[in-house]
Amino acid sequence: MKVVLLNSTYEISKAVSSIIIEQITQKPDSVLGFATGSSPVETYKRIIEAYENGEVSLKDITTFNLDEYCGLPHENENSYYYFMKDNLFGKTDVDYNKVHFLSGTTGDIDKECQVYRDDIEKAGGIDIQLLGVGTNGHIGFNEPSESFTDGPFKVKLAESTIKANSRFFEDGQVPEYALTMGIGDIMKAKKILLIATGASKTHAVKQMIEGEVTPHCPASILQNHPDATIFIDNESAALLDKKNF
Ligand code: F6R
Repeated sequence: MKVVLLNSTYEISKAVSSIIIEQITQKPDSVLGFATGSSPVETYKRIIEAYENGEVSLKDITTFNLDEYCGLPHENENSYYYFMKDNLFGKTDVDYNKVHFLSGTTGDIDKECQVYRDDIEKAGGIDIQLLGVGTNGHIGFNEPSESFTDGPFKVKLAESTIKANSRFFEDGQVPEYALTMGIGDIMKAKKILLIATGASKTHAVKQMIEGEVTPHCPASILQNHPDATIFIDNESAALLDKKNF
């Protein structure tokens, strides 16, 4: 696991977006795994700027998002599909035929999860998986538990996740369940970039980087990935023993 400590969210967004843009430049039909939430928003802005400046085209990429709330259709403003449309896809030339999402409204969850896994494999696997981390150490919606998950599945969200994400919901009503890629899916990505900034992430960052590898902090598994880079700022790094990376 490589750790990069930078001074600001802006610097992190420049560093992470450059890696993604370079990947697309080298391989225009790259397969990219995207995350939602606050952490990647600035990075998406930098990618949009690069697109607007003619530096990159997203028309040939294939995308897989990490997760989606159960019960929310694409048109719902709180769905993660809507988020991606609003924060990246709708502002670039992404081809929606190559956009993949777990469906929060499917009637057949097992099939939905199996098809998603098959689709990732058929696409040749994920070249870069972008991640945030929950305050409880979750990645995707793999909440702390007794064992690491494998493929996509339906999860009951932890109370801390519901509380943390209620800031996005006007009525505060966060769905209790979501579909998420499993840890096995995330670990298969060829390259992983995780962004963790701000004071609320200090404990998760400490456990993820310096703690033991345990499903009680799902992000700690990234210590075992051959090409995972964690981007942190001074605030989220506050509890780390080691500060020179
Ligand atoms: C989002 C996701 C989550 C978030 C995490 C951090 O698709 O899978 O794991 O990355 O909850 O959220 P933010 O970035 O809002 O702090």
